[in-house]
Amino acid sequence: MDIKGRVVFLTGGGSGIGAAMARRFHAEDAEMVIVTDIDLESAESVANDVAGEGYHLDVTDEAATETLIRQVETDHGRIDLLCLNAGIPTDGSVDAPNSDWQRSWDVNVMAHVYATRYALPKMLERGDGYILTTASAAGLLTNVSAAPYSVTKHAAVSLAEWLSVTYGSQGIKVSCLCPMFVDTPMLKAFGGHTDEMRNWVEGLAIDAEDVAQAVVEGIDKETFLILPHPVVLDYFQRKALNYDRWIQGMQSLNEQVAGGGSVKEV
Ligand SMILES: NC(=O)c1ccc[n+]([C@@H]2O[C@H](COP(=O)([O-])OP(=O)(O)OC[C@H]3O[C@@H](n4cnc5c(N)ncnc54)[C@H](O)[C@@H]3O)[C@@H](O)[C@H]2O)c1
Repeated sequence: MDIKGRVVFLTGGGSGIGAAMARRFHAEDAEMVIVTDIDLESAESVANDVAGEGYHLDVTDEAATETLIRQVETDHGRIDLLCLNAGIPTDGSVDAPNSDWQRSWDVNVMAHVYATRYALPKMLERGDGYILTTASAAGLLTNVSAAPYSVTKHAAVSLAEWLSVTYGSQGIKVSCLCPMFVDTPMLKAFGGHTDEMRNWVEGLAIDAEDVAQAVVEGIDKETFLILPHPVVLDYFQRKALNYDRWIQGMQSLNEQVAGGGSVKEV
């Protein structure tokens, strides 16, 4: 799909990958970029940069999501590209508090359910629409120190896949963005606990602008998976080819991370 002339509705657009996508969509001549975020000030600031509109939206608030989607459809005639990018990092194991698991589920998964629930009907009426969800490489592989994040990002990939399978023949295009490490404020939360770990993560990190470039290319080609780090496809293929061997490799990575030492192999 060509982004030129499109109306884009973006969540989590006030920072990092979302802000870079907003700027890139504007540079690609989108008709309008609606920038939403739980942090109104950052949403308005990015919207100002892209001649768009900035709104407060907590993506876990279903009623507010419905209201804003309806308002944008009324004001701008349609939503062409629904870009569900807001997400939160949640570290921890099965021992993480239930509230952390629930918040992760609400932001990383249910928010995608709510937004598609209200944007899809008009897209289906027109027989045209594009849904881009930001999951993570953790949703295809795993994140060794973050069970709530890994599990909910797997669910986000699964939902995107289901939407594509179900509505693809009715003109709805779906892409699922699965980056590895990206240099944004969120990266600090997953930076590891030692300088060595932090260096390893930062060494693999790419800029949010590189992710936005991959997004524009992925939307242009209408590919389901958008992988700004090509190595993720390699790991994903290895996982599918020999799941047990892949798990052994990840166990070794987990031990290296838990030991706080240097990481030799992923
Ligand atoms: N940075 C990485 O390494 C990385 C890697 C893979 C995937 N991701 C995913 O990319 C997406 C964007 O992350 P980022 O790295 O740009 O992080 P970021 O922290 O810079 O941006 C996330 C944005 O989401 C907003 N947000 C958080 N909770 C919200 C809520 N309930 N409602 C609305 N907005 C909310 C935040 O205010 C922030 O502006 C996330 O879904 C994240 O999981 C990030």
